[in-house]
Amino acid sequence: MSRSCCINPSILSADFVNLEAELARISNADAAHVDVMDNHFVPNLTIGLPVVERLQKVSPVPLDAHLMIAEVDRWAPQFADAGLDSVTFHVEASAAPIKLARELRARGSKAGMALRPATPVEPYLDMLPELDMLLIMTVEPGFGGQAFLDVTLPKIRRARAAIDGSGVNVAIQVDGGVTEETIIRAAEAGANIFVAGSSVYGKPSPADAIESLRANAQLAFAG
Ligand code: DX5
Ligand code: ZN
Repeated sequence: MSRSCCINPSILSADFVNLEAELARISNADAAHVDVMDNHFVPNLTIGLPVVERLQKVSPVPLDAHLMIAEVDRWAPQFADAGLDSVTFHVEASAAPIKLARELRARGSKAGMALRPATPVEPYLDMLPELDMLLIMTVEPGFGGQAFLDVTLPKIRRARAAIDGSGVNVAIQVDGGVTEETIIRAAEAGANIFVAGSSVYGKPSPADAIESLRANAQLAFAG
């Protein structure tokens, strides 16, 4: 199976006092994953639009924002306006996901839609052409350092089959508990963009960790 693979480290596991330097340590990544949490949609609080706007200006790689926030229909377009490569909203937080996806694309950003581990993909298959990326959460959103939920693998397989079957160009991103070991199972199931926080920033060399993850994903694709 030939598939392009992306490693997007999550800066949630980086040093928040030195984010510019932390981004420089992952300049061999395909993008940097930026987790925005509001303490309403998830029980944790991170950074908001002003910080993300500054990150966009200094980052050596494109930014991939993951919005874990309530009232996302109101907020997400402003992240697209900041020039981010990709903006992902949770379908559970959106009142009008098709309208929102179109708005993100109209503002020049890729449109991503995220599903919590227990949210089924089937109700959303008809809207795949509206999306550039489907994010299948492999942990409950809110915190880094959790264990990968293998129970999400069948959903990844079903999403991959639907995407390949309909011929749409939609990436499948997985986020949560991605390690050198679990990335193989996720890649075999059909994911092709891998978010990794603690397994990149928790290593002495984040750049080397990115290359190891990429090599394992490519091995899984080749197998
Ligand atoms: C969790 C975040 C993830 C988190 C992943 O809600 O969306 O992006 O940073 O961290 P790890 O890779 O440590 O599970
Ligand atoms: Zn995330």
